Amino acid sequence: MAGTGVFEEIIDGDVYKYYSEGEWRKSSSGKSVAIINPTTRKTHYKVQACTQVEVNKVMEVAKTAQKAWAKTPLWKRAELLHKAAALLKEHREPIAECLVKEIAKPAKDAVIEVVRSGDLISYTAEEGVRLLGEGKFLVSDSFPGNERTKYCLTSKIPLGVVLAIPPFNYPVNLAVSKIAPALIAGNSLVLKPPTQGAVAALHMVHCFHLAGFPKGLISCVTGKGSEIGDFLTMHPGVNCISFTGGDTGIAISKKAGMVPLQMELGGKDACIVLEDADLDLVAANIVKGGFSYSGQRCTAVKVVLVMELVADSLVEKVNAKLAKLTVGPPEDDCDITPVVTESSANFIEGLVMDAKEKGATFCQEYQREGNLIWPLLLDHVRPDMRIAWEEPFGPVLPVIRINSIEEGIHHCNASNFGLQGCVFTRDIVKAIMISDAMETGTVQINSAPARGPDHFPFQGLKDSGIGSQGITNSINMMTKVKSTVINLPSPSYTMG
Ligand code: G3P
Repeated sequence: MAGTGVFEEIIDGDVYKYYSEGEWRKSSSGKSVAIINPTTRKTHYKVQACTQVEVNKVMEVAKTAQKAWAKTPLWKRAELLHKAAALLKEHREPIAECLVKEIAKPAKDAVIEVVRSGDLISYTAEEGVRLLGEGKFLVSDSFPGNERTKYCLTSKIPLGVVLAIPPFNYPVNLAVSKIAPALIAGNSLVLKPPTQGAVAALHMVHCFHLAGFPKGLISCVTGKGSEIGDFLTMHPGVNCISFTGGDTGIAISKKAGMVPLQMELGGKDACIVLEDADLDLVAANIVKGGFSYSGQRCTAVKVVLVMELVADSLVEKVNAKLAKLTVGPPEDDCDITPVVTESSANFIEGLVMDAKEKGATFCQEYQREGNLIWPLLLDHVRPDMRIAWEEPFGPVLPVIRINSIEEGIHHCNASNFGLQGCVFTRDIVKAIMISDAMETGTVQINSAPARGPDHFPFQGLKDSGIGSQGITNSINMMTKVKSTVINLPSPSYTMG
């Protein structure tokens, strides 16, 4: 159970502690932040409301700890990461319980998130050992005008202190996807978890604590964004920010200054369906891609662009599948669970009402109880409706009927977002040409958008983000290149 057994030391009364200098601590603010259970809409957990002074301390120790960590052998860093991965998997049940209570993630998916995170950490440890174990050796005579008088040795070195800010929808997985590459590369790490999801993240951090990482190398501060949000992202001690979330990321990027940024800020992933597509496959992918975790995924299918000729048939197939989805509490492992906050539910409702006023066809009756919204397919959506462009982050999916491939590509590319997209067709040549034309970081052919497997590159274009993620790209992003050049007094050519 959360906060018990090995996790007893991370809680004081009913308030979870924050993690600094290798210890679990109470904030001097004496204040806490409530975490509302999306299902009951009542306070379920509380976390410390950390102060700016506490953030300063965390940054100070992170800087010192990083210097020593950078001198720790790579195999040793990997060994500790493997330990943390094993502990995370061992304690998957209490961590998954937090995900159920804080973010209403269906019970089985919550366990999958924790296990996937353990696998991600282990893979990162192995990838890091190989990737960072190699550098480059360059010789000067390949550039015009030079003899072989210079040997250049390059290696990848850490950036320093990495600030990781994951989102509510994967508070464990999208935290470790930042923590593990940062650590294997020799950085220290400060985590600011989302409020909703903070307790799961604190349990995850405790697994790193139990694994025996040096004091101060990893810290986790909780609290109100209004108090410590900007203070963290603009802190002079931060050398890299890895952020996943909404358009707050755009604001952070404007304020961050000379700091490398890795950002994923959502998407409006289009699903283009051609006339020759396998419609059963498409319907299955639309339901999985659009409605898993109630549509609260950056990579969810967020608009279907289907050729008019097959639209009726596709809509019928999707509706038949939607009718079978279970709707209810995450504890019962329902397919559709309450969305994360009341304001989120209100926002989704606003998009639905706008579509209603403008004449969209409701394939199901709109139903809502508290934060729980029943799955809804909106047909005959037109570009003047907000839902054609905005990201609902809920179980509501618009269908736009198109008369040409160009129309579909045009709608996809007119979006501010450019995370992923997908195309369904049996014609691989057409699929590749459509993929090339879609201005998104990834295009899936004959499958719904998805970030995983976690070693695949993951990137958004336009407002969807900066830089590329995925294990290898994240390790590279969290390092910089250092060169040492050996200058010889006279040219020397290596002989066989
Ligand atoms: O930010 C990425 C996340 O929302 C989607 O991840 O694994 O569900 O494709 P995934």
